Amino acid sequence: MPAPRPNRRTVLAGGTALGLLALTPGAGAAITADPFTLGIASGDPAPDGFVLWTRLAPSPLADDGLGGMPARPVEVEWEIAEDEGFARTARRGVATAVPELAHSVHVEVAGLRPGREYFYRFRCGGHLSRTGRTRTAPAPGALRSPLTLCVASCAQWEHGYFTAYRRIAEDDPHLVLHLGDYLYEQGHLGYPVGSGVARPVEGGETFELADYRRRHAQYKTDRDLQTAHATAPWLVVWDDHELDNNWADDHHEVFGATEEFRRRRRAAFQAYYENMPLRRSSVPAGVDLQLYRRIRWGALADLHLLDTRQYRSDQACGGLIGPCGQESDPTRSITGDEQESWLLEGFRESRARWDLIGQQVMMAQNDSAKGPLKITGMDTWDGYTASRDRITRGWMNAGVRNPVVLTGDIHEHYANDLKLDYDDPDSPAVGAELVTTSVTSGGDAAGGEFEGDPDNPHFRFRSGMRGYLRTRITPEELRADFRVLPYVSRPYAPAETQASFVVSDRVPGLR
Ligand SMILES: [Fe+2]
Repeated sequence: MPAPRPNRRTVLAGGTALGLLALTPGAGAAITADPFTLGIASGDPAPDGFVLWTRLAPSPLADDGLGGMPARPVEVEWEIAEDEGFARTARRGVATAVPELAHSVHVEVAGLRPGREYFYRFRCGGHLSRTGRTRTAPAPGALRSPLTLCVASCAQWEHGYFTAYRRIAEDDPHLVLHLGDYLYEQGHLGYPVGSGVARPVEGGETFELADYRRRHAQYKTDRDLQTAHATAPWLVVWDDHELDNNWADDHHEVFGATEEFRRRRRAAFQAYYENMPLRRSSVPAGVDLQLYRRIRWGALADLHLLDTRQYRSDQACGGLIGPCGQESDPTRSITGDEQESWLLEGFRESRARWDLIGQQVMMAQNDSAKGPLKITGMDTWDGYTASRDRITRGWMNAGVRNPVVLTGDIHEHYANDLKLDYDDPDSPAVGAELVTTSVTSGGDAAGGEFEGDPDNPHFRFRSGMRGYLRTRITPEELRADFRVLPYVSRPYAPAETQASFVVSDRVPGLR
């Protein structure tokens, strides 16, 4: 989108902070190169506002992770308008970007009108950012206007180009939901992919705060990702790779709970907050970061965004494969007790037409052994079957009208009927799960026809191609398009819909 500059008279005439700032010596004056190399973003819309984000980094890959910024606070002007030309300003102000937060800016805006589009931009040291578009959530009670929600997960830099993010932007969604593995912690030698390294990642595996800051910065320089952020507000939750593969609470996958891992978790969480359009409620506190939250989209949808990493019991059965009996221990939990109570309470309070549960790992049972033998993974809800049972019964008992679970992690598209008993083929569907494939993780993959899976009859569709999920939600139905890209090892791949499913109001399961 073009970013027209307001003329100097407009800027100075208001007598606002923006005008005064132009006369204040030293306010950003030393920033000579463009500080907006990481783009801009918005997130977590409410009926009266949202969060605006940027992070100043004239030299994004600087070794110290600080993006080439001086070690002092820098003022950043922000501006919100009703029109793309910034003729009708809605709000403006000045935020202070501090080195302690890697010169990130999180502006929480309130007092705007519900259910409408806004445009925003930042200015610092004589540089103007690009223009972003965002929106407020509909007023409470508003039901009629449809919601286009695109869902993505698992974008590994060295596995390919982020073309899927550009295709998401072209779909013109109202909201983008990112379900984790926004970045990967491995260095350039880790986690190779069949189609080869599409483009090198900077640095080795991330352990220290500077490493995570630098990794986030490299990802944020991607033009396709920047465009997707500038097109719509995002809702973000993490999975494992924002910190480390298959972590669970304060447990490293292999070495368990150590002081060293807690240090690493703290560094990863801080960098995550610094680089995402999150509200103040997610400012890290020690080794914790409050990420689960609820976003209401009028009366159409409640989005319950879960964090299934930070509070989960360590993986059962030695973290390998199950079942071994441990996975069904009712004292184990994938959400932790507090988040579970919060979610069940959310189900009871919901008056929404659709209850969308955005979370990380596959909820439906996934039996990977052919025939009567059952083999399940211990990093997904199969490793926490009592949790799955409590939450499934929770939405049934609360009379949730249309529960739909949105999932990432597995690098494949899946469309699943959710059940209370996956081992009983006659157990009725009590919800639907839509799993989005990876943006790039795994590299190029060709598509084939899904012919059904006798070990998992609740799987209605499956595809190993790269892509994303597009949903169109109305009071009457939720339509899901599984979007796929033929390659990611080169840029500019087209996207097409490989399969579509519909969930109808008050009819659990997919058709
Ligand atoms: Fe992943």
